[in-house]
Amino acid sequence: MSEHHHNKAPRGLWSSRIGFIMSAAGSAVGLGNIWKFPYITGMHGGGAFVIFYLFSIVLVGLPIMVAEMVIGRHARKDPVGAFRRLRGGIWTGVGWLGVAAGFVILSYYCVVAGWAVDYLWLSIKGTFSGAHAQEVPEIFGNLLNNDLAQLFWQAVFMGLTVWIVLGGVSNGLERANKVMMPVLFLILIFLAGYGLSLPGGAKALNFLFAPEWGKLDASGMLESLGHSFFTLSLGMGAMLTYGSYAEEETSIPGVAVTVAIMDTTVALLAGVAIFAIAFSYGMEPAAGPGLVFKTLPIVFSQMPGGTLVAILFFVLLVFAALTSSISLLEVVVAYYCDEKKWSRKKATLVMGGIIFLIGVPSALSNHLLADFHIIGDRNFLDSVDLLATNYMLPLGGLLIAIFTGWVLTTRLARAEIEKGEVRFHLYPLWHFLIRYVSPILVAIVFLYKIGLF
Ligand code: PFF
Repeated sequence: MSEHHHNKAPRGLWSSRIGFIMSAAGSAVGLGNIWKFPYITGMHGGGAFVIFYLFSIVLVGLPIMVAEMVIGRHARKDPVGAFRRLRGGIWTGVGWLGVAAGFVILSYYCVVAGWAVDYLWLSIKGTFSGAHAQEVPEIFGNLLNNDLAQLFWQAVFMGLTVWIVLGGVSNGLERANKVMMPVLFLILIFLAGYGLSLPGGAKALNFLFAPEWGKLDASGMLESLGHSFFTLSLGMGAMLTYGSYAEEETSIPGVAVTVAIMDTTVALLAGVAIFAIAFSYGMEPAAGPGLVFKTLPIVFSQMPGGTLVAILFFVLLVFAALTSSISLLEVVVAYYCDEKKWSRKKATLVMGGIIFLIGVPSALSNHLLADFHIIGDRNFLDSVDLLATNYMLPLGGLLIAIFTGWVLTTRLARAEIEKGEVRFHLYPLWHFLIRYVSPILVAIVFLYKIGLF
């Protein structure tokens, strides 16, 4: 670890540029890519949605990722401390919103990731191989009806998350990401290649990349813009926190572009793998959230070598979830370490425990608390997901864009980026995007989501 920053507080630093990239990509690549992206693409008709999604990443996601990393590295603080240091007043609230979103998202993220761990366990036991096509979806139903099992797997997953975060920035987060991310890529490339070799491969490519514009409606466009935040871990200070551990010599725009490309590649490869496998066995693309827990395991039960493919797929899903959950917990831990001067050990254990408890109603939301609706007819888990992804992240992202473009000023941001030996050639473009394009697009999404249109 480099010591030439002479930081008084013992904050962590990434030990290398590649460690920073792997960690930020690890945060971005998660359930959002492998579970959510394929099923929302399936529900919104494929190709046209995918193309619009690519625009959302470039026009909204990328500029805001640069902004978050700049704020973090400039302040060298957690989100609350960063906004307080750079401007203070009501802007500190943006940091608070971020830390709060960390609590909310991690609480239910551990529940869904827990399902993935359970499915990994079932795959290892060979539960899917040879099971009847009708039985397989029932396995998911049984899990959702089993409160204790869900709590157990949620606890297992939170335990893994806490264990990694306890290790600190370079020895915990970075080390774990440097192992899990390459494994994740290898598995995904294998699965996508395997999918393409099946009869449904061509149909999957066609579904994902040949746009039928008539299938894309306003709700699909908004979903795509909103998802660009979730999938890139933006709007709540995760990239801000990770940026606060970056060296000055590291090019922030370079890292951000690399991370966005990796995240998008993973989403598309996951789409290819999942749709190719599903189409080859006559499954429907619009299966919704059950796509990877109900539809896909049916295929695993029927295909030759299905047990191995199932194990690989659920290792992939668990690794993706874990590299993201550690970044969610890190936001909260950074706040308690930087602002409250807690030790990392205390912050990680106490907050991991509290967030587990906040997640308990989500784990129980399909059975014990099934009649307990918060927003509309949504159960607890779906309500907190909606709250975080539709409201907290877009609002946070909007405020971060306005802060960077208009309050902090892009001139100062440029100076931060160019502190090392880095040239920011696309600065004029970024300046235009972060001041006008990103905030206006996000504002439209936000107003729509709160029902103003
Ligand atoms: N980007 C993660 C995913 O796609 O699953 C989710 C996420 C992680 C959102 C970290 C926000 C965050 F701060």
